[in-house]
Amino acid sequence: MDKLIITGGVRLDGEIRVSGAKNSALPILAATLLADSPVTVCNLPHLHDITTMCELFGCMGVELLVDEKMNVEVHASTIKQLVAPYELVKTMRASILVLGPLLARFGYAEVSLPGGCAIGSRPVDLHISGLQAMGADIVVEDGYIKASVKDRLKGAHILMDTVTVTGTENILMAAVLADGETIIENAAREPEVVDLAECLITMGARIKGHGTGMIRVQGVERLDGCTYSVLPDRIETGTYLIAAAATGGRVRLKDTQPNILDAILFKLREAGASVEWGDDWIELDMKGKRPRAVDLKTAPYPAMPTDIQAQFTALNAIAEGTGRITETVFENRFMHVQEMKRMGADVDVEGNTVIVKGVEQLKAAPVMATDLRASASLVIAGLVAEGDTVVERIYHIDRGYECIEEKLQQLGAKIRRVPA
Ligand code: EPU
Repeated sequence: MDKLIITGGVRLDGEIRVSGAKNSALPILAATLLADSPVTVCNLPHLHDITTMCELFGCMGVELLVDEKMNVEVHASTIKQLVAPYELVKTMRASILVLGPLLARFGYAEVSLPGGCAIGSRPVDLHISGLQAMGADIVVEDGYIKASVKDRLKGAHILMDTVTVTGTENILMAAVLADGETIIENAAREPEVVDLAECLITMGARIKGHGTGMIRVQGVERLDGCTYSVLPDRIETGTYLIAAAATGGRVRLKDTQPNILDAILFKLREAGASVEWGDDWIELDMKGKRPRAVDLKTAPYPAMPTDIQAQFTALNAIAEGTGRITETVFENRFMHVQEMKRMGADVDVEGNTVIVKGVEQLKAAPVMATDLRASASLVIAGLVAEGDTVVERIYHIDRGYECIEEKLQQLGAKIRRVPA
């Protein structure tokens, strides 16, 4: 397995481009299954999770054409199998996103039930109950969700018990081809849900209220192909901003979207960074200062994203003062804490809160993590630690960060990949 070796102590300084958002690209790829004619998806990030989704399409017999810019043209009408097998779902839970589209368009779907996950139990009961409310027959058998519907799904009034991002996306994708109106209450308001809705609208769907807690969908009989460009990745953006702030450095990010990053940008100002932005760029300058520790609490959008919690923990680890970080979305998302302790961080976990007393200097150590964002936080810790930090199991990072070592090298970091 590849490793990253980071020699800490360099202040980041430079400009990089932000990639397309993984968590937007995955549902949008799934949505292409709904269209009668080919859909071209642009600004796809080069990531393992995207390759896995393409592999899943390959298993289903869906033809894909990929051009030199990695734009993918999906021909859903070539589909032969309505099954997402365990082998792929176990490597990427987001495979569950094909459930709604397959059922709505082809009347049948078999998707392996995702198992437990490193960051929490992550059930999919709300995906299932929402589709059942729309008339689907669903059984869970032999580890698979087997869903079918006679004729068409029917519009329904669905109240989600918990705000769920992929749950909202699955119901939304099912509702666009259902008979009648669907109302999704307590819907996720994440920008990635809005991006999916905009893509579906470009395909001919009738959706209102996306970006609010109540989405209204008027089902249509068919959707057409289109060309759609995925929005920039706000979590990748936030990760590089935090990395620059932790090192006391400066970074300019281009091709990003500041207006979906309020919670992160305001918190970085609180940490003492000077942060400026325009329509599609953000510049952060820490002017060589040590950051101040910040308190934060994760929650669904527009609050602080859970996907940036570990990175802020790394910032607090070397900040001035003590910061309290509370995780309210997933029950077990603190795997990075024990690893950071090995680097000399002064961190305690009390229930769902990590209390970090900033130290002046972290020390390099071999570390590894069992999820994507935790791994990113260890890279940040490595950038500020004294000595050579070896981050193992970086296949997690490759699931969600495009060319992370090249981008950090562009900012002056001393980081290299050692192939297995
Ligand atoms: N939940 C249920 N029942 C359900 C669905 C969710 O109880 O049927 C609970 C979960 O257990 C969790 C909460 O609801 O406690 C929120 O989970 P959500 O369903 O929103 O998470 P997700 O849709 O599985 C997406 C992202 C995650 C991100 C979360 C939260 C994608 C592909 N994944 O997951 O991204 O952390 O939303 O914002 O969009 C990542 O990129 O590193 C990542 C994990």
